[in-house]
Amino acid sequence: MKVLLIGSGGREHALAAALNRDTTLEELHVAPGNPGIAEIALCHAIDINDNSAIVELAKKLNSNLVVVGPEKPLVNGLADALNKANIACFGPSKAAAQIEGSKDFAKQVMRDAGVPTAKSFTCNNQKEIEKALDTFGAPYVVKHDGLAAGKGVVVTEDRDLAIEHALLAPQVVIEEFLDGPEVSLFGISDGTTVIPMQPAQDFKRAFDGDLGPNTGGMGAYSPLPWAPDEIMEETLNQVLNPTIQEMAARGTPFVGLLYAGLALTSRGTKVIEFNARFGDPETQVLLPRLKTPLAQLLYAAATKNLENFGGLEWSDDSAVTVVLASEGYPADPKVGEAITGIKTNESSYVFHAGTQIRDGVLHSSGGRVLTVTGLGSDLTQARDAAYRTVSRISLPGSHYRSDIALNASVAEKGN
Ligand code: AMP
Ligand code: GLY
Repeated sequence: MKVLLIGSGGREHALAAALNRDTTLEELHVAPGNPGIAEIALCHAIDINDNSAIVELAKKLNSNLVVVGPEKPLVNGLADALNKANIACFGPSKAAAQIEGSKDFAKQVMRDAGVPTAKSFTCNNQKEIEKALDTFGAPYVVKHDGLAAGKGVVVTEDRDLAIEHALLAPQVVIEEFLDGPEVSLFGISDGTTVIPMQPAQDFKRAFDGDLGPNTGGMGAYSPLPWAPDEIMEETLNQVLNPTIQEMAARGTPFVGLLYAGLALTSRGTKVIEFNARFGDPETQVLLPRLKTPLAQLLYAAATKNLENFGGLEWSDDSAVTVVLASEGYPADPKVGEAITGIKTNESSYVFHAGTQIRDGVLHSSGGRVLTVTGLGSDLTQARDAAYRTVSRISLPGSHYRSDIALNASVAEKGN
């Protein structure tokens, strides 16, 4: 099989590594890729928002399957353009990607599908905004309706701040605050059949102790030793299946990865958000543990053949990933610093996210620079492997959290 993967982050590096392990893979091309991906695949410089350029590239390469990493090309209709050219695409159509592209749309789907989520109002002016905020009370949760690259959501006790954030967007969703731990649980869908992946947890705040601003994600781990045994089956039955059936019934089947961000609240599991693609950095802990051949899985989904695919096979290892971020990330990342000291071994991977080669030397080029995944027989060992590798990497001014999966590893040892 010849696969073309679209994207350039740590998620795509992890996808590329896992695709490469599939023995049916003949060629792996990535557009645009990054220096880490270039070590394991053929990279093609391309604008990922140029649908026709990607279709042309896929044709030229005779790709059997295109896998789309980030949400933006999906919301821009890349899957539609590929399907029109008879190229199988893992990733939803423009209409189905609205489940991530519009919070209001996601709420409507959940309501019609009977999927548990926070009560909400969609508001278009200050009067509606204030009424919604006062209905729910603090802490206030305000979400810009459209794609906002992780900057659309504010959770705050400060009513004035909530109003200020709400007025920045033409339409917002204001919803009740959900308590309890968050879990990311992904379903692979062919439009009618959906297969759940194991759960992961990510760390969104910039600093230790869940302090500081929200980020794209500072680390993740999987599996979750503390999570209820039935979480996959329950999420499949209450969230993933009803959502996939509802999307099909609307005439906009969802083919690709449905990312359910869940809150395990005192009143049951509720959906915080949906995304239409693999999570970053959750993918960097899930895929190193996945034994099922990934190219075959994604091809079966893209060609509507999941019904007889069976369940997924996972290694018993635990995985922990730690994001190495640039100085000033997330507010104002300083890029262009040299990176040295990357050394991997059989129990750790270094996935590139924001890197580039300048004058033959690896430099930082983004806020999240590297994602370092450690594997081990439990979370303590996986943490040791990840932190051993990340602590040896030198990037001036950089920072990483030191408490990724710490509480879960202590609890696991105590059991
Ligand atoms: P999102 O961009 O939708 O992933 O939201 C970013 C983060 O905001 C989530 O990971 C949660 O930590 C938080 N959040 C979003 N919605 C809620 C909610 N209804 N209650 C509590 N926290 C929330
Ligand atoms: N880890 C959060 C996201 O991928 O949106």
